[in-house]
Amino acid sequence: MVEVNIQNVWKYYGKTVAVKELNLKCPENSFLAILGPSGCGKSSTLRMLAGLEHISAGDIFFGDLRVNQLPPKERDIAMVFENYALYPHKTVFENMANPLRLRNVNREEIDKRVRRAAELLQIEMLLDRKPMQLSGGQKQRTAIGRAIVREPKVFLFDEPIAHLDAKLRAHMRGELKHLQRRLETTTIYVTHDQLEAMSMADNIAVMHEGVLQQFGTPSEIYNHPANEWVAGFVGEPPMNFLNCRLERGADGVVAVHPSFRLALTDAQRRLLEEKGAEAEVRLGVRPDTIAYRAGAGSGLGIAAKVFVTEPLGGDMIVEVQLGADRITVKTKIGPSANLDEPCTIAFDAARIHLFAASNGIAYF
Ligand SMILES: Nc1ncnc2c1ncn2[C@@H]1O[C@H](COP(=O)(O)OP(=O)(O)OP(=O)(O)O)[C@@H](O)[C@H]1O
Ligand SMILES: [Mg+2]
Repeated sequence: MVEVNIQNVWKYYGKTVAVKELNLKCPENSFLAILGPSGCGKSSTLRMLAGLEHISAGDIFFGDLRVNQLPPKERDIAMVFENYALYPHKTVFENMANPLRLRNVNREEIDKRVRRAAELLQIEMLLDRKPMQLSGGQKQRTAIGRAIVREPKVFLFDEPIAHLDAKLRAHMRGELKHLQRRLETTTIYVTHDQLEAMSMADNIAVMHEGVLQQFGTPSEIYNHPANEWVAGFVGEPPMNFLNCRLERGADGVVAVHPSFRLALTDAQRRLLEEKGAEAEVRLGVRPDTIAYRAGAGSGLGIAAKVFVTEPLGGDMIVEVQLGADRITVKTKIGPSANLDEPCTIAFDAARIHLFAASNGIAYF
């Protein structure tokens, strides 16, 4: 298989800059997700990899081969889009066989490869049906089958399961990941859905407004977001952000908010010193790392008020009013509470993040 290497790549459409100086590597046989909101340049990047879009500047390599000038059919890639575009008058078998017929593969080999792909995707019993007679998930699997029979060097997926219902999407996430691990084909997968990226990929490239924000494993992206934007984009419910001021005293460094003072750990204090931290910071705290108790004087350090409680089966989301700020807490299910009922909350200093207020860069 092959490593994909994107070097200083730019994409312009007239005056619109869709991709800015992108540097990104997808190691051989691995699964890379390109994650970001609508319009951030994901499809433009993928289409340049596929050869469907001209590269405005920079280079793309598949292994040692610079592919900038290669037409799509010479790049040995297979692409699956959200709109899977099956031939309506052809059977599942014929849809899957089509790319092989176009390459004059012999009949016996076609039969063998289509049946093997169908077996892998568990659609052997559907080979004689036409697309009209398939569910959305079965159509999607047929489109994926059509991509894998080619045994390409690289798979390119552009939001292939975005329009399926939630349950089928969850199922297809597992199937696609399993398939990729089994085939060990270098895979680049574009999505705006963080759950897809987090659950399937070996590495994630987070993009925003054409700029790569962070590259890392799912756990690096989640636990050590490089900036406030990534921190707010990855995680559900999203991370809370509070404006704080750092005060240095005899007892170390304290993050000061109108409603609380939070003493930082020694490791955090050292990081702030190393990075020459500004006094004005944004404190980031994930909803499931905040302790919550209902009632006045219920024992946690910070007095606050409930805005609303939302039961979610085993868990509960509590929107908490903390002075002028409102934050989201995720806790175990408990009694619901009404507007303005008192509660107490606590932060775990070791699990907070601090970002520079001026530019959002993470200190930790
Ligand atoms: N053919 C085109 N002509 C002009 N502008 C384009 C063209 N294709 C994309 N753009 C612009 O380039 C930017 C990036 O678009 P792109 O399709 O790469 O985004 P995306 O991340 O795939 O978004 P989505 O999640 O909505 O598919 C957008 O501002 C878009 O409007
Ligand atoms: Mg797109």
